[in-house]
Amino acid sequence: MPDVNLSVNLAGVTLNNPVVVASGAFGFGREYNQFYDLSELGGICAKGLTLHPRMGNPAPRVAETPMGILNSVGLENPGVDAFIKEELPFLRRFDTKIIANISGNTPEEYGVMCEKLSAAGVDMIEVNISCPNVKAGGLAYGTRPELAAEVTETAKKHANGVPVMVKLSPNVTDITEIAKAAEGAGADALSLINTIRGMRIDVSTRRPVLRMNTGGLSGPAVLPVAVRMVWEVAQAVKLPILGMGGVSKGADAAQLMLAGASAVAVGTALFTDPFAPLKVRDGLAEIAGRQGLSAVSELTGGVKPW
Ligand SMILES: Cc1cc2nc3c(=O)[nH]c(=O)nc-3n(C[C@H](O)[C@H](O)[C@H](O)COP(=O)(O)O)c2cc1C
Repeated sequence: MPDVNLSVNLAGVTLNNPVVVASGAFGFGREYNQFYDLSELGGICAKGLTLHPRMGNPAPRVAETPMGILNSVGLENPGVDAFIKEELPFLRRFDTKIIANISGNTPEEYGVMCEKLSAAGVDMIEVNISCPNVKAGGLAYGTRPELAAEVTETAKKHANGVPVMVKLSPNVTDITEIAKAAEGAGADALSLINTIRGMRIDVSTRRPVLRMNTGGLSGPAVLPVAVRMVWEVAQAVKLPILGMGGVSKGADAAQLMLAGASAVAVGTALFTDPFAPLKVRDGLAEIAGRQGLSAVSELTGGVKPW
């Protein structure tokens, strides 16, 4: 292994290495802990939490696509209180940063969850703004700058100093507008991208393959979209970025870092290879070493655009 410093800083939080696992692909880590010590990870974005437990959407809710998957899991989770009581003590056993991911139907719900999670001692709160705002007729918070700003401001107010990272949706015309709104409202970091809305139809039955008709696309197919969006956002704001979308090897992560990400997350790749994050980490170290860098963080923002 080349002698490269792997640690990175994300909004004042030091990660042992730049590879985090993405929310929703890792549950609360218990299954993966059978494969390796979770302290090997730079951080863990826990499964998305809501104020109250949720059953999620009816099946089928995951389908394969070429180089990716479509999912409409619908935020199945035990609720924030159960996470704090049952899952956080387990996750806290490891030398890794714990990032709670939250979704709400109103800004107030985000605020209540931030109060609870900051008191419980998570390292960061990732605010998922891809969920519908019930008051604004179901319009996703992440699609309108003013709604994104409202949620960010409320989250910050109630996070008691715990860094707030706003997770952007790619399902917009100009992602930099939302990024700037979150920055203006006090976000400490941004993460992107969430899944891209998609649909598959079974031609013989003429039924959509997912019970919800549409779902979110993730996996290697989305990497170029993620790289493009991270690059655009990195130029538009000063906030640190956790880049994700389609990462399955070191070179994928290096692309996101060169585009401007300080750290990367691995999601869908975990479903085919539970060791993917560790391979991504080692691949990144090798690339940095080969390029003569002493720290992997030197990759951040290093793209040389034409
Ligand atoms: C099955 C599944 C569940 C997900 N659940 C969440 C979630 O609860 N909260 C969230 O912010 N993102 C969720 N995501 C999005 C991922 O965290 C990530 O942003 C996206 O999948 C792109 O990364 P990837 O291509 O490496 O999977 C989920 C993705 C998948 C595939």
